Amino acid sequence: MNELMNHTADMGQAEMFSKAWYNEYFRRAAESSAHSRFCEAVYGRDLCQHGMMDLEEMDFLASLLKPGEKVLEVGCSNGYVTEYLHKKAGCRILGLDYADVAIAQAQARNQGKAGALNFQCVDLIHDELPGGDYDAILAIDSIYFMGDYNKTLAKLNARLQPGGRMIIAAFQTKEESDSDAILSPGHTRMDQALKALSFHYIQHDFTPNVRNHWIKNYEFSRSLQSEFAGEGNAFLCEARMAENGWFKDHAERGTLVRFMYVIEHNADLALS
Ligand SMILES: C[S@@+](CC[C@H](N)C(=O)[O-])C[C@H]1O[C@@H](n2cnc3c(N)ncnc32)[C@H](O)[C@@H]1O
Repeated sequence: MNELMNHTADMGQAEMFSKAWYNEYFRRAAESSAHSRFCEAVYGRDLCQHGMMDLEEMDFLASLLKPGEKVLEVGCSNGYVTEYLHKKAGCRILGLDYADVAIAQAQARNQGKAGALNFQCVDLIHDELPGGDYDAILAIDSIYFMGDYNKTLAKLNARLQPGGRMIIAAFQTKEESDSDAILSPGHTRMDQALKALSFHYIQHDFTPNVRNHWIKNYEFSRSLQSEFAGEGNAFLCEARMAENGWFKDHAERGTLVRFMYVIEHNADLALS
């Protein structure tokens, strides 16, 4: 996200994408009807999203999960996406996020579902990942926040059971210093990390979806701006506007791609 961070506006006291900033975001989003309308219009369904995954991509992801599987989701925010995947696929999911406000919302909604749906506050950079032997580990637009891709992939891989897989949804942009190849399947920064660590994987192209996403994100943040302001949630709208201009430019220039990487567990990879 470094390229994006260089282009985001000052969002007030909390640094954008920090724990405090995400707490403020989800504290407001959970109560905001403008945010609901925004998500419905932009993603195709309101799951209080803050990533880029539309309903088509999410349903494809759900189709990769099997009933009863033990799944870890990193960067689950306030858990609506997690609940959707759990209901659709019938898998058991532990969702992790460092935004304790978001995790508390998810826990409150899902009391009594222990064993099927659990949520835990974990800092993905500084804390150990809880549990192990996962059949699948999901990262939906959260891998950018975990630091170095190689280290993160090794850390997640170590929590998979043999035969398990990681499913990572991530975008790639081309900046001036990048070669054109960075946008091609097999050549993104994620591809480079996966190849360096000898992972076997396949990647599914969701580039048209992500380009469409940012154009709609840009348009609806503006058409709903007065509704956000009217309910005292200009912060939420400004948060979207702080990133959607940069992404929309990339979408329109054709310098934005997105892939879902489905990565086999690598038993030979030692955790350094
Ligand atoms: C772009 S949002 C994506 C949320 C959700 N997966 C979705 O698609 O709507 C990134 C999420 O990662 C979480 N996050 C960022 N840095 C984190 C960290 N160091 N540890 C745990 N969670 C983190 C944020 O709180 C946020 O919920």
